[in-house]
Amino acid sequence: MRTRDAILPDARQIHDLIALYSGDGTLLPRSLAEIHENIRDFVVVEDSARIIGCGALHLYGMHLAEIRSIAVHPRDKGCGAGKRLVKSLLAQAEKQQVTCVCLFTRLPEFFARMGFSVAAREDLPDKIYKDCCKCPKVHCCDEVAMVRGDLPKFAILQQPGSVFVKLQA
Ligand SMILES: CC(C)(COP(=O)(O)OP(=O)(O)OC[C@H]1O[C@@H](n2cnc3c(N)ncnc32)[C@H](O)[C@@H]1OP(=O)(O)O)[C@@H](O)C(=O)NCCC(=O)NCCS
Repeated sequence: MRTRDAILPDARQIHDLIALYSGDGTLLPRSLAEIHENIRDFVVVEDSARIIGCGALHLYGMHLAEIRSIAVHPRDKGCGAGKRLVKSLLAQAEKQQVTCVCLFTRLPEFFARMGFSVAAREDLPDKIYKDCCKCPKVHCCDEVAMVRGDLPKFAILQQPGSVFVKLQA
């Protein structure tokens, strides 16, 4: 089993893996076009040349990155692939000198094992501006916000446009 950066030929398998878990809302659906466009965000775990897991790190800036689309094929769960994916994405965040990694999940216990703690979604305004405000579940969200590192002191996104907004002195 090894983890590596994804490349365009992996896009179809990544799409199919995420689709296994997006039907019931466990993961946000990602179109093939979106995966192609963001392929450099993704890492994959392969075993015997077969992709068994994927995950992505979306960079907002040095103040914040978000782990997204973590999926391990049902028949390969429980063998450490999920942990490898998270570790690899955290290493990428560290390389980019990101000070806070966040994620939204229904499996807080899994991510707590990897050093994440529960946060208030209001502490992550970039995520709200990017995704939550377009989500049909914005007022009945059943996901837990989690962070690892220092909470961001500012947001880089605002509606509309893209300007710095200072939240704290
Ligand atoms: C969550 C998921 C990525 C875990 O992948 P995995 O390869 O089975 O996990 P691992 O084998 O690497 O497990 C790592 C550790 O987490 C624990 N763990 C695994 N799944 C867990 C779960 N659902 N809840 C709590 N702990 C869990 C394991 O026991 C293991 O503990 P250890 O380090 O003490 O041995 C996988 O179950 C999955 O793809 N689920 C569907 C998609 C999903 O829910 N993604 C996350 C949404 S944000």
